[in-house]
Amino acid sequence: MSQIPVIAIDGPSASGKGTVAALVAQRLGYHYLDSGSLYRLTALAAARSGVPCDDEAAVAGLAFALPAEFAGGRTILDGEDVTDAIRSEACSADASRVAALPTVRRALLERQRAYRQAPGLVAEGRDMGSVVFPDALLKVFLTASAEARAERRVKQLIEKGMSANIHTLLRDLQERDARDAARSVAPLQKGADAELLETTQLTIEQAVQKVLVWYRSRFHSLH
Ligand code: DC
Repeated sequence: MSQIPVIAIDGPSASGKGTVAALVAQRLGYHYLDSGSLYRLTALAAARSGVPCDDEAAVAGLAFALPAEFAGGRTILDGEDVTDAIRSEACSADASRVAALPTVRRALLERQRAYRQAPGLVAEGRDMGSVVFPDALLKVFLTASAEARAERRVKQLIEKGMSANIHTLLRDLQERDARDAARSVAPLQKGADAELLETTQLTIEQAVQKVLVWYRSRFHSLH
């Protein structure tokens, strides 16, 4: 078992876990893994090569050989900057479909584990604590009400100059949550060993502090 510490942050779509995880990583000087982007990239790669989302073997092949790079906050697929393209609603829906395929999840497993580099890793997704890093030093299940998450997402899209409809967003979000929670492999759920962080009434900074306090107490009891 690796001694390099991992903080696993799991939770539903648009819960703010990406923002919180990236800030925690920055404060600790740790590496950061946004595992959802790998499912999004797989979905985009499939769409671009005309592979249907439910062709499990073909999608897993694409996932395994994904020509993806992360550089300076940008996401590159096969040489093209797809940072915005992977955040579209269409890509979000396709990502949730490909993420339900067991062979695709297996194809991405080692790639995710390779992010565990010194001095530590903050990994966020749906199964970081349950499957990818079961020996994480701290596991957090970060959530917020569906309404608060839809509102946050609308704000983000408007800031990016994209149009957004709260009702459609809320419905899509609830559909994705249901699919992510109902799938047979690595469903989205809070593990018994995870701390619950309910952020509906918290600021980003309060959520970050809460994670850091939990983490420091675990880290110090080890050293
Ligand atoms: O976190 P996100 O919204 O970028 O994730 C995109 C999709 O990928 C979402 O439907 C859930 C899925 N996902 C997953 O199944 N397992 C992960 N570790 C991360 C994301």
